[in-house]
Amino acid sequence: MNRRGFITGTAGMLAFGGGVGTLGWRAATGSMGEYNTHVATLRAQLPHDPTLRDLIRYAVLAPSGHNTQPWRFAVDEHAIVISPDLSRATPVVDPNDHHMFVSMGCAAETLRIAAESTGRPGEIEPEEEGSVHYTFAEGAPRLSPLFAAIPRRQSTRADFDGRRVSVVDLMTLEREAKMPGVALVLVTERPGIDRIRDLVIAGNGAQMADPAFMAELKHWLRFNPRLAMKMGDGLFAAASGNPILPDQLGRGAFDLFFRATAENRKYGHQIDTASGIAVFFGDREDRAHWVAVGRACQRFALAATSLGLRTSFVNQPVEVARLRPELAALVGASGKRPDLVMRFGYGPDLPFSSRRPVDAVLS
Ligand SMILES: Cc1cc2nc3c(=O)[nH]c(=O)nc-3n(C[C@H](O)[C@H](O)[C@H](O)COP(=O)(O)O)c2cc1C
Repeated sequence: MNRRGFITGTAGMLAFGGGVGTLGWRAATGSMGEYNTHVATLRAQLPHDPTLRDLIRYAVLAPSGHNTQPWRFAVDEHAIVISPDLSRATPVVDPNDHHMFVSMGCAAETLRIAAESTGRPGEIEPEEEGSVHYTFAEGAPRLSPLFAAIPRRQSTRADFDGRRVSVVDLMTLEREAKMPGVALVLVTERPGIDRIRDLVIAGNGAQMADPAFMAELKHWLRFNPRLAMKMGDGLFAAASGNPILPDQLGRGAFDLFFRATAENRKYGHQIDTASGIAVFFGDREDRAHWVAVGRACQRFALAATSLGLRTSFVNQPVEVARLRPELAALVGASGKRPDLVMRFGYGPDLPFSSRRPVDAVLS
């Protein structure tokens, strides 16, 4: 079971679903067939000569904390400006908007890769007041494997198969994720991975014991395809490998069955089967560096996807502030503030998460 989703025991689900007929159930949840068509449209390859709007559709395929998509885009002739959408903040898990600016960095880098690959190369500049500018010119298209990976990347919250990643591929990941102002540590030996696992579990236990954290998480859960398509945001149960339920049943089941013991066991398996863990550190604790961290981690995830690897965040040891010093120390970075933790390895495809339409993010 995973913190960002939830699962119910089969017995509990049957008890809950006992009074609901198949047709009523389907009407309440929608179907995975419809959902898959919906996400395929969101993730369709860009046309040969994309408009700026097409590029923004690709940019919003970037990851964001709780899939809040906390961004707005304004379009100019030679610039796209991304601003934070403060109405989508998650103040409990992210009290100083760190994840919000990291998410904007993920979107900005995705935009830059898509624009450069299709003939609008440019630069990303974070501004003092919090917006991020992508300024571009006309240029020859420069395709990259990272571009092809944009619609295929996902946060895969599943067990991996434990296979080791070759040294050559690890070097590719490090090279592609290089970003000024950001350091990356890859942990691929078991003792180090085990210690990070223990910190993830400690952090998850602390978060799940906090009613405010649980209430905020529940607000962003989407228990079925119908709700995930309607809202276009949030954490879709099936994208975490969890069962689909009508909304009310999902909410009740979350309260009744979502427990730290089972979640921690699931995290243990997920990290035990990972090939490695990537820890990202910004040189400074400010918005510009959080944007840079987002850019680096998105490049890492896209490079991993292009190599056939899966990734998913396990950020509990950075979200629970008291665990940060221990995490930093165990990867040899005492005194620095770790920004993100991501596991990687070989694993299955899970259903993709949804996105809001481009119109909803245009200023
Ligand atoms: C800054 C940031 C923090 C995140 N933290 C977590 C996390 O701790 N655990 C997790 O399972 N997913 C985490 N995510 C992943 C998001 O939930 C995910 O990107 C979102 O649901 C969209 O799904 P996708 O990545 O599959 O497109 C994080 C993403 C970002 C950008």
